[in-house]
Amino acid sequence: MSQAAPRIRHDDIFVGFKPIDDLHHEFQAIVDALTDPAEADYGEHLLALHEHMLRHTALEEQYMLQENYPHYGVHKREHDRFVERLADMRRRFDAGDVDGVRHYAHELMGWFAAHAQNQDAPLAAYLKGEAGAR
Ligand SMILES: [Fe+2]
Ligand SMILES: [Fe+2]
Repeated sequence: MSQAAPRIRHDDIFVGFKPIDDLHHEFQAIVDALTDPAEADYGEHLLALHEHMLRHTALEEQYMLQENYPHYGVHKREHDRFVERLADMRRRFDAGDVDGVRHYAHELMGWFAAHAQNQDAPLAAYLKGEAGAR
C-alpha cells in the first residue's frame, strides 16, 4: 500500500500557550511514531497515546475549571469522545483489527488539528487574557 496519508500542517496544532503547546508536541511525537510505516508496534504506541491523552485532557480541564472557562462543557465532551474512541481502538487492536487501527492512526492528526483550532486555541487565548476570547 503506497497511499500517502494527508499531511496536516503541524503548525495548526500549536496555540501559543506553553503548557498546552508542550502537550501538543508530545501528542505529535506519539502520532508520528504511530503513523510511521517503518514502525509496527501499534499496541505500544496506542498505550502511550492513551496515557498521554488522559494527562493532556486532565491538565486542560484543570485550567478550565480553575479559570471558570465558559466553554468547559463542550470542550470536555470532545475530550471524552476522543478518549473513548481511543480506548475502543485499543480493544479492537487487541482483537486483531490492525487495519482499523491503521485507518484510525491516519485520521488522528486531522481530528486533533480541528480540536486544537476550535477548542484549544480559544482556551489558550482565554488563559492569556486576550480580548474577544469569550
Ligand atoms: Fe490539547
Ligand atoms: Fe482540548
